[in-house]
Amino acid sequence: MDLDGSEQDPEMKEYSSVYVGREEDIKKSERMTAVVHDREVVIFYHKGEYHAMDIRCYHSGGPLHLGDIEDFDGRPCIVCPWHKYKITLATGEGLYQSINPRDPSAKPEWCSKGVKQRIHTVTVDNGNIYVTLSNEPFKCDSDFYATGDFKVIRSSF
Ligand code: FES
Repeated sequence: MDLDGSEQDPEMKEYSSVYVGREEDIKKSERMTAVVHDREVVIFYHKGEYHAMDIRCYHSGGPLHLGDIEDFDGRPCIVCPWHKYKITLATGEGLYQSINPRDPSAKPEWCSKGVKQRIHTVTVDNGNIYVTLSNEPFKCDSDFYATGDFKVIRSSF
């Protein structure tokens, strides 16, 4: 059954927000996982802010909910436990370090590959946490692992 009308035009999905848990619980655990409209997401609570993103890493599908959060260049990132890719919590950008080979004395600089992990919206209402899936119409690398055969959890319908 197409409750939200999203199946009529897959290019123009409008997702309703979905309840994922209680604020008091995520403040204790600092992260939780959820299935939102058949898409697996991880929600982090870090330094007073909520961030939601696709749960599987854009690189090769690693489980981001099992990664550590560290700051790189002053930006909080989830570090994928599989190959240590760094993904900014706020924007889903992949970060890497580069160096100018013509300048051996230069220190490596943090650079962005652009948005690689799809970020979703978290809202809090009366102690309840909701996630609204991103419907930004760009192709995000993490979409590959969030749909089709690579999903970790399959819904029962
Ligand atoms: Fe995440 Fe490779 S799967 S870094």
